[in-house]
Amino acid sequence: MSDICILGIESSCDDTSASVIKNGVLLSNVIASQDVHERYGGVVPELASRAHQQHIIPVVYDALNSAGVEKSDLSAVAFTRGPGLLGSLMVGVAFAKGVSQALKIPMIEVNHLQAHVLAHFISEGKPNEKMPSFPFLCLLVSGGNSQIIVVNSYEDMEIVGQTIDDAAGEAFDKCAKVMGLPYPGGPHVDKLAQKGNPHKFTFSKPKLDKYDYSFSGLKTSFLYLVRDELKENPNFIQENINDLCASLQYTVVNILMSKLIQASKDLKINQIAVAGGVSANSELRNTLIETGKKLKWDVFIPQLSYTTDNAAMIAITGYLKYLNNDFCSFDVVPYARITPELK
Ligand code: KG4
Repeated sequence: MSDICILGIESSCDDTSASVIKNGVLLSNVIASQDVHERYGGVVPELASRAHQQHIIPVVYDALNSAGVEKSDLSAVAFTRGPGLLGSLMVGVAFAKGVSQALKIPMIEVNHLQAHVLAHFISEGKPNEKMPSFPFLCLLVSGGNSQIIVVNSYEDMEIVGQTIDDAAGEAFDKCAKVMGLPYPGGPHVDKLAQKGNPHKFTFSKPKLDKYDYSFSGLKTSFLYLVRDELKENPNFIQENINDLCASLQYTVVNILMSKLIQASKDLKINQIAVAGGVSANSELRNTLIETGKKLKWDVFIPQLSYTTDNAAMIAITGYLKYLNNDFCSFDVVPYARITPELK
């Protein structure tokens, strides 16, 4: 059989990324981030689309060069169709159409969330790589989503719980903003939390049925605590920032873990994976490992480079879809919103 070489393109938010996967093995994964948003405290969609346009060609060239692959070696181009920012997605989709037309290769649409889950199947060609087997549970936690997914196969995924309001990453980012930390706040909270007391402050936790999440109450209780304390002491944030971060992080991780443990017990699934930007959080990673030891879970934690948005996860999903002859037509358009089924 001839080689299967997939070019993956990711442009759903504020990272432009391209990756090459050959016969299921990662050859390159290039990411250009956009620091233009920092001063605005969040991603500005119009600026994101413009930056994608500037970055996409150099990023793709870089990915091909570092993979040592010629354009003519490519078997298909896989791209993020959604969900994400529409203007950002349009840049990647239009670029993929151009590649497909010019090289006469098929296009493969990829659901960004499904790709986060399938990032666990990225192989770097090393011996003894550990990958989950089906079925497994995946906690998908990012800036836009917090979901518990039953993964039955590469194609068959069922969302059994999700946030009814804010995502976990949003809770980190919005509370970080209240403390005056730069965007995105999650990594800053993680760093400062290392020196803080996680039990100094208590924030509200949601009471929801089944495996759904809610983070808006936590965000409001954090905001009210800081507002009330600032009335008494204008230096409250500076004097307590480490403890605020540690307590916030402790609460978020606690909320995430309690539903995950419940889902694992009820569904009798002991293979537990985590994915998405928030899976970079050190407390979440440590708690997963510790809980895994206690409950005899097989825990799968992605490398840090595959936690945030990256094209390697798009390319591996594209590769798996290629094996199934799962291609899309040239009139494909991006979608901004999440679909109920991860199809
Ligand atoms: O998956 P992702 O890169 O993309 C979006 O959903 O847009 O996730 C980004 C989110 C942000 O909310 C960011 O603050 C959060 O992941 N994040 C973290 C950490 N690293 C990234 N949150 C907590 N701790 C971290 N170390």
